[in-house]
Amino acid sequence: KYERAYFMPPEVTYDWVKKEYIEKPPIWCSVDLRDGNQALIEPMSLEEKLEFFQMLVDIGLKEIEVGFPAASETEYQFMRTLIEKNMIPDDVTVQVLTQAREHIIKKTFEAVKGAPHAVIHLYNSTSVAQREQVFRKSKEEIKQIAVDGAKLLLELASETDGNFTFQYSPESFSGTEVDYAVDVCNAVLDVWKPTQDNKAIINIPTTVENAMPHVFACQLEYVNKHLKYRDSVILCLHPHNDRGCGVATAELGVLAGADRIEGTLFGNGERTGNVDLITMGMNMFSHGVDPGLDFSDMKRLRETYERLTRMHVYERQPYAGDLVFTAFSGSHQDAIAKGMAYREEKACETWSVPYLPIDPQDVGRQYDSDVIRINSQSGKGGVNYILKQSHGINLPQEMRSEVGYLVKDISDKAHKELTADWVYQIFSDHYVNT
Ligand code: KIV
Ligand code: ZN
Repeated sequence: KYERAYFMPPEVTYDWVKKEYIEKPPIWCSVDLRDGNQALIEPMSLEEKLEFFQMLVDIGLKEIEVGFPAASETEYQFMRTLIEKNMIPDDVTVQVLTQAREHIIKKTFEAVKGAPHAVIHLYNSTSVAQREQVFRKSKEEIKQIAVDGAKLLLELASETDGNFTFQYSPESFSGTEVDYAVDVCNAVLDVWKPTQDNKAIINIPTTVENAMPHVFACQLEYVNKHLKYRDSVILCLHPHNDRGCGVATAELGVLAGADRIEGTLFGNGERTGNVDLITMGMNMFSHGVDPGLDFSDMKRLRETYERLTRMHVYERQPYAGDLVFTAFSGSHQDAIAKGMAYREEKACETWSVPYLPIDPQDVGRQYDSDVIRINSQSGKGGVNYILKQSHGINLPQEMRSEVGYLVKDISDKAHKELTADWVYQIFSDHYVNT
C-alpha cells in the first residue's frame, strides 16, 4: 500500500554532513499566525492574534507571517489593524500568504496597502499527486501558474506604494521531482530578477514530511546549487513534522545551505505541526550559540500560547514541558545533587551537570520545585536534597538511607508524588515528634 513518494535529487555530495553544528543562527520567520492558526480547532480572534504578535515581537522575531488576508475577514482585518494602528515595529517585517490566483493576489495587495515593508508570499502546488489528482495539469501548465502569479506580484507592487519583498514556495515540494521544482523556482526568479539590493525568498516546504531528514538536506543541497541569482536569493526551509523529525530536517537543512527557517512556537501547525522554533533555537543555545531569540521566560510563553491557541504543551516538550528537567529516580537525583554541589564548589563557568542538558534557570525554571521531585522511584540523595532546600535540614550521611526508604515506601503505598511539606511531615513524625 505504501511506497516512498519522495525524490532524491539527481546529484548530491553530502558535504554538509562534515559540519558538526550550526555556527550562526538562520533568519527566523514565525508562521504561528498563519500555518499555526489555520490548524487550530478554533482559529484566533483578531485580539488574540494581536496579543500573539506582540509575544513574537518580544521574543525577538523580526520576520512574522501574519496571515492569509484573502482567506477570511479576520485575517484581512488583522493585517489592516497592524498597519492602521502602526503596530509593526520598524525592525519587524510582516509577511502575508497568497495563492497564485489573480483575485487572491489582488485582495492580498489591498490588505498590505500602507505597510512600510512586507513580504508577499506566493505559492502553488507542484507535486506529482497534486498535478495529477487535484489540478489535472501538466508540468508546463503548473509552472505557468507560478510564472503568471510572479508577474502579477511585480505588476501590482509597481502600482502600490510600499516596499515589498517577494517569496515563492513550490507547495508540496516534498512530493515534487527536485529538478522540476528548481526549474519552477528559476522561472519565477527570471520574472522577479532579484538583486543584492532587492532579494527574493525561495521557500522550500516539506509540506508533508515524507522522507528522512538527510534526504531533505540532500534536496536542499541540490536547490542551493542550482538556483539562479543565488547571491540575491534567501533560501528558506519550511519543515513540517509528520514523521516527528521537523527539527532534525531544519538543522540538517541549515547545514546544507538554508539561510532562513519558517516555524512556530511549540511546533503548532498543520497536522503534526511545523518545526518548533523553541527547540531549534534552544538546541543552538545549548551548543553555546546565541540563537538571537529570547526564551528565558518560558512560563509566560507557555501560558500565553496555551491560552490563545487552546492547545496544550506536552509535559515532555523539549525545554518547555513541565517534566523536562525533573528527576524522580534515585540515581538521577543523586547525580544531579552531586553535580550541583560540584558546580558550586568549583565555581564552574560552563554547564555540565549530569542529566540536565541546560541550566533550567535559563528558561525560568527553579531547581527546588522543578528538578528533584519525590515519589516511589526516588532515593536518599533526592530526599535529603528536598529536606535541605525546603526546610534547611541536611541529614547526616548515616541517616540518609533510612529516611530515604521511609519516605519512598510511603509514596509507594499512597501511589502518589510527595510534596516537600509531606516529606518533612514524614521526617518529623518519625524523628522529631516521637
Ligand atoms: O507547508 C506548506 O507547504 C505551506 C506553504 C504555503 C508554504 O505552508
Ligand atoms: Zn506549512
